[in-house]
Amino acid sequence: KNSLVLAPSILAADCAALGDAVGKIKNAGLKWVHFDVMDAHFVPNLSFGPQFLKRLRELYPDMFFDVHLMMDNPHLYIDAFASAGASLINVHLEPDFPLAETLREIHLKGLKVGITIKPKTSVFELAPYLPFVDLAMLMTVEPGFGGQTIVENAHERIAALKKLREEMKLNFRIEIDGGVTAQNVSNCIKAGADTIVAGTAFFKHTDELLAAIAAENK
Ligand code: DX5
Ligand code: ZN
Repeated sequence: KNSLVLAPSILAADCAALGDAVGKIKNAGLKWVHFDVMDAHFVPNLSFGPQFLKRLRELYPDMFFDVHLMMDNPHLYIDAFASAGASLINVHLEPDFPLAETLREIHLKGLKVGITIKPKTSVFELAPYLPFVDLAMLMTVEPGFGGQTIVENAHERIAALKKLREEMKLNFRIEIDGGVTAQNVSNCIKAGADTIVAGTAFFKHTDELLAAIAAENK
């Protein structure tokens, strides 16, 4: 069974103090930092690029940077994010790019690799790629913005992915991203999520979220 991981998303932090945001994650005793990259094509927003990651990696050499590429052409940026210090690179299934090759390239660079789907993409479309990833992530909001409400069928989608993992006898992590709160996190963990992204909930309601997760982590 995979250990439970909380990966705060610094998208919800004060963007003038991203270094301090990672410091806050570290001081909470956590290791994973979720780093959201948006290209204004795959999603209607822009966020941070490799130069931000490089500086955060210099400041925090021991943290695990979980890099979520919301991009139409993620394969053109694997090198840049790997050299900048990514620990794991997450690519989406939806855009048209050489997905299998990209997953392989990320592994060949010695990083962990994740695959991600949007809320309306069927969980079963992940199946052909699951043997080749360390983590599969379900977006639980439409990607592009923090602070949205979790989709209604999150629980069912997590359970479906967990069932698929059992049937395929694999042990990739199941990560969820978007709209996680202290109120809904227990149900997500019970359904099978073991890696929890939280932006707004971590940065605005830290104690409630940490308490809710601690209650599930026994
Ligand atoms: C959305 C991002 C998420 C987002 C999560 O496109 O991928 O990581 O920042 O933020 P909250 O937890 O605020 O929904
Ligand atoms: Zn994300």
